[in-house]
Amino acid sequence: MDQLIINGKKRLSGDVSINGAKNAAVAIIPAALLVNDVCIIENVPHIEDVSNLVTALNYLGVDAKFVDNNTLRIDSRNMENVCADYDCVKGMRASYYLLGALLGRFNRAEVSFPGGCDFGTRPIDQHIKGFNSLGAEVNLEHGIIQAEAKELVGTSIYLDVVSVGATINIMLAAVKAKGTTIIENAAKEPHVVDTANFLNSMGANVKGAGTDVIKITGVEELHGANYMIIPDQIEAGTYMIAGVITGGDVTVKNVIPKHMEAITAKLIEMGVKVEEQDEAIRVIADEPLKSIRLKTLPYPGFPTDMQPQMAVLLASVDGTSIITESVWESRFQYTDQLNRMGAKIVVEGQLAVIEGEKECLSGAKVKATDLRAGAAMVIAGLIAEGATTITNVKYIDRGYEHMVENLERLGADIKRVKQDA
Ligand code: UD1
Repeated sequence: MDQLIINGKKRLSGDVSINGAKNAAVAIIPAALLVNDVCIIENVPHIEDVSNLVTALNYLGVDAKFVDNNTLRIDSRNMENVCADYDCVKGMRASYYLLGALLGRFNRAEVSFPGGCDFGTRPIDQHIKGFNSLGAEVNLEHGIIQAEAKELVGTSIYLDVVSVGATINIMLAAVKAKGTTIIENAAKEPHVVDTANFLNSMGANVKGAGTDVIKITGVEELHGANYMIIPDQIEAGTYMIAGVITGGDVTVKNVIPKHMEAITAKLIEMGVKVEEQDEAIRVIADEPLKSIRLKTLPYPGFPTDMQPQMAVLLASVDGTSIITESVWESRFQYTDQLNRMGAKIVVEGQLAVIEGEKECLSGAKVKATDLRAGAAMVIAGLIAEGATTITNVKYIDRGYEHMVENLERLGADIKRVKQDA
């Protein structure tokens, strides 16, 4: 397995172009299975989660392949297999979207219980509640979820928790159901909207995505479509923080500034200069920054997937900062790794108290404990005194395309080496 070695204290400056959104791609790719036709999806990031999903589709008999750098062609005309076994979905949380897509197309699906990052219990009861309400019977046996319906019939579903996955999965299962489905207390994340837009481009009738009530009027037939995925909000935020922590001047290009508001608001509160352009955001950190309080929330709140990266930044800013994690029950495991580098973070349940101090981080051997925690370790390495070695790079590969090259171009001293080299 590879590892990253970073020699810190290099100021970052320049531009970085942001890829398509991981969390939109992993929903839109399975959504393409709803149609007995060909879909062309552009701006698909080359990341492990996407490769795994493409392999899973191939296993299901779908002809899915990259035809151009970031363009994926999905031809599901000959697919018949509705069973995605463990080997094909392990390590990939978003494999649960295969359930909604297969159920929506064939009224039947068998998918191994999803893997993915471990930050506490990751139930899918709201997905199952939605499928049940639409008329499907769902059973879990030997680690495999089986869903089957004679007919899917539209209904009203109130989500007990705001869940991105359940909202999207119910949309997938409902687009071809008989009648109208209403999802109340729906998630409003940009990738929910992007998936709805893709479904509509295939002929579906989904209204209200981006609000907390989504109305899906079932249609009999869908057709193939060409679609371009939105930019990745979290990848953009990660590079912005990487720039800021080094006192740099970094522009993230190919972003939708509106999607970044919760992140830019917090950076501005800390004293970062933020310049918004049409499809770019420039961050300049040339003054001492202030400590803050922040709480993760569903969109449009501060995204939990930016929480670890933000914690590193706050650890290197003088003063006490407090982070409340309100989405996942245990998403602070990575703080042990950061504390090994000299951060002073105390975790009490859903709360992290950070005694920030400029220049407190020093290079150490640390591991990526999950995808965004891995990104946080990279950011810590950029500002640490001396060399930082990061193991478990496979987690970072799940969500970042060309991270090393991008950071190098911005001026970082970072390299990827074989672990035993
Ligand atoms: C998605 C993102 C993930 C992000 C998360 C929250 C993808 C592939 N992953 O994950 O990166 O961190 O949104 O923004 O898009 N819950 C239940 N029952 C359910 C479903 C969820 O109780 O059936 C709870 C979860 O335990 C969690 C909260 O709801 O506390 C939010 O989860 P959810 O929005 O579903 O996250 P994911 O879709 O898995």
